[in-house]
Amino acid sequence: MLNGRSHPNRFFRGFVGNPRSVGAVLPASSSLSRAVAAATAACAGPTDPEPCPLVELGAGTGALTESIRGMRPVLVERDEAFAAVLHKRFPELEIRIQCATDALRNLQEPVGVVSSIPLLNNPQSAELKRTLEQCFAEGRVRFLVLYSYGLADPCGETSLPRGRRAARVWRSMPPASVWVYQPACAMARGAPIHCSPSPSA
Ligand SMILES: C[S@@+](CC[C@H](N)C(=O)[O-])C[C@H]1O[C@@H](n2cnc3c(N)ncnc32)[C@H](O)[C@@H]1O
Repeated sequence: MLNGRSHPNRFFRGFVGNPRSVGAVLPASSSLSRAVAAATAACAGPTDPEPCPLVELGAGTGALTESIRGMRPVLVERDEAFAAVLHKRFPELEIRIQCATDALRNLQEPVGVVSSIPLLNNPQSAELKRTLEQCFAEGRVRFLVLYSYGLADPCGETSLPRGRRAARVWRSMPPASVWVYQPACAMARGAPIHCSPSPSA
């Protein structure tokens, strides 16, 4: 079976062409992908009779997608060459060649979000964070799982629900943390998540 390491050349060429957008020299490691998948499954609630759809932002060549494909995420990737790889690897999944902020603004129903779009040194990260804040406030995003190579909470200065470090992954180059954002009421009760939008958020 293919995994993310089967596409490092394609990924590396993408990085050389647009380093700030791609944000990493290598795709996510399998350890990191598994940690993200575990955090996502915990948020999505495997026993939820009505799980909300899942959207993966910045799917790249699918290193992370491989671990969550059973949850049938909609894949959003703005790089056309990466999207072509995704089409080949995941013919059963819906793939949108689109900017993540547009995808979030056009959400038709509440979703869970997994993102690997770089938030450090990315000129678009402020806009992406603003859009996520709005989506959380309106209840259109029920939870967000992302990974970061930095030490601090990458969304610490936003109005998103307080971030929880779900895992530290040392088998990653560089080592990474998996962060989960979901409303406090959902965390207290555990997944599945059925929160109304917070009026103050
Ligand atoms: C660090 S790579 C992660 C790729 C893959 N998910 C992984 O974990 O290996 C970030 C990906 O996000 C994509 N990306 C960056 N900004 C984006 C945006 N605004 N909208 C959609 N995709 C974006 C890049 O093209 C790249 O494929």
